[in-house]
Order: sequence, then C-alpha cells, then structure tokens
Amino acid sequence: MNEIMNTKKPVTAATLLRASQCGEKTVWLTAYDALSAEIAETAGADVLLVGDSLGMVCLGYDSTIPVTLEQMIHHATAVVHARKKAWVVCDMPFGSYQQSPQQAFASCVRVLQQSGCDAVKIEGGEPMAPTIRFLADRGIAVVAHIGLTPQSVKKFGSYGKRGADEAGRAALLRDAEAVGAAGAIGVVLENIPAELAAEITANLDIPTIGIGAGGSCDAQVLVFNDLVGLSASNPPFAPAYADARQIMSDAIARWSADVKSGRFPKCEEKTV
Ligand code: KIV
Repeated sequence: MNEIMNTKKPVTAATLLRASQCGEKTVWLTAYDALSAEIAETAGADVLLVGDSLGMVCLGYDSTIPVTLEQMIHHATAVVHARKKAWVVCDMPFGSYQQSPQQAFASCVRVLQQSGCDAVKIEGGEPMAPTIRFLADRGIAVVAHIGLTPQSVKKFGSYGKRGADEAGRAALLRDAEAVGAAGAIGVVLENIPAELAAEITANLDIPTIGIGAGGSCDAQVLVFNDLVGLSASNPPFAPAYADARQIMSDAIARWSADVKSGRFPKCEEKTV
C-alpha cells in the first residue's frame, strides 16, 4: 500500500487520480504558512490545502466571508515556499469567483501566478458547474467543494450537516455529478452522511476528499489546528490527535513564571 504517493516525484492531479483508482487513500491537510506546511508535509500530508478557514484560524474572523484574495495569495505563497513535493491547493475566497466564469478566471490567474500553487478550490455544486467548466477548459486544476460550504453560512444559518433529508440528498447527488462532469479534478465532501459520501464516491471517476463524510472517500482532509489540538474547540467530526494548545501554553506559563521570579535567564538547566 501507499506505493503511488510514496514516490520521490512531486504530487500531481494525475498521481491523486491514480491513487484513488488503486484504492490508495491520500492525506490532505490545511496549511496556512511555511511552518504548518513544513510540519504537515514532513509528517505525511500529500496535499496542502490553503483553506480560507485561515480567516478564522489565523485572522480571528468569525467566518470565512471576510477573507480576501490578497490574504489567500499571501498565505498560499508562504505554503508554496515551504513545500517540497506536496500538491498545493488554494481556496478561492468569497466574492472572488461567484459573479461569472470570467471573474473566476481572472481571480484564479492571480492566485496561480502570484502564489505558485497548483490548483484552486471553489465552493458550490450544480450552479458552479459552468464556472468549473470554463476554468478547466482554460487549463486550471479545480477542486470543487460541496455539502457544508462555509462561505454560504449566512444563507443556511448554521454549520450543520447537509444532505440529511431526501431533498438535500438528491441535490448533493446532482451537485457531485455536475462538478465531476464539468471537469473538476476532485471534490471535497464536507459534513454529509457517510452513506451519501460512499454513494457519491462510487458514482464519480474523480477523487472525493472527505471531512465529516465517513471513511469511504478517496482522501481525508482536516484543519491543521483542529488536528493538533490548537483550536479552542473542534467540530464533532474533527478529532484532535494531540494537545498542542496545552503544550504551548504550559511552556509559555513556565517561562513567564521564570522571568517574573528572576530564574530566567540565569537558570542553566535544560527546560525540555
Ligand atoms: O477552508 C478550509 O479549511 C476547507 C477545508 C475544511 C476543507 O475548505
């Protein structure tokens, strides 16, 4: 297992497709700067997703809606600088692609040229299919994102599960088929029932990337800060594999106490 992703060659859209065809799972993780990119890739991530979750994770916004194209380019550039062979996907932020295929193309050109990333991700299913087709026909690698689409939180009113009733399920099946037919390279399925994600994965020729969508997807993605335990709270589908927040605050608290008591910088002993 893991024969395809373990080669020394850079990861490409073709590698990811081949892995999914061979039943080899791929690992996607968000990264927002050179440090998180370096840690994520060294530890085994195949794909680094510069998610617009950076608005909440790094910039302190309460949603992804305020994130700008300039901010995405700034963070994606840092991730590209640090990557070695991982595929780097950059989220297109709210308002930079929904108006028209032409607007989307102009925004994607800026992101690709200025950051050096490999692909872009856009939220939306059937209604975005003409845009995905327009971009794909012009040589852009597009990852689609359906199910819970955080940029539409104001419309839906919550970050809850999507596709839970019959109408939602039918709409998501149509969304998945439409983005696949339009030429998307892959599709993120966020917070949808596991059986529905399994059906979509079986129906599509392109890789599915699950987050809160069960174990049948071709790949899994998580938010870096949720995974390592840096977030103040995690969504129910994103387990923390470490408690980095506690480790970091313990270190700062010990150092702070040493400064106040005069033990630092006099103390010579090793602290870790
Ligand atoms: O913005 C993001 O981090 C994402 C992932 C959660 C898929 O879109």
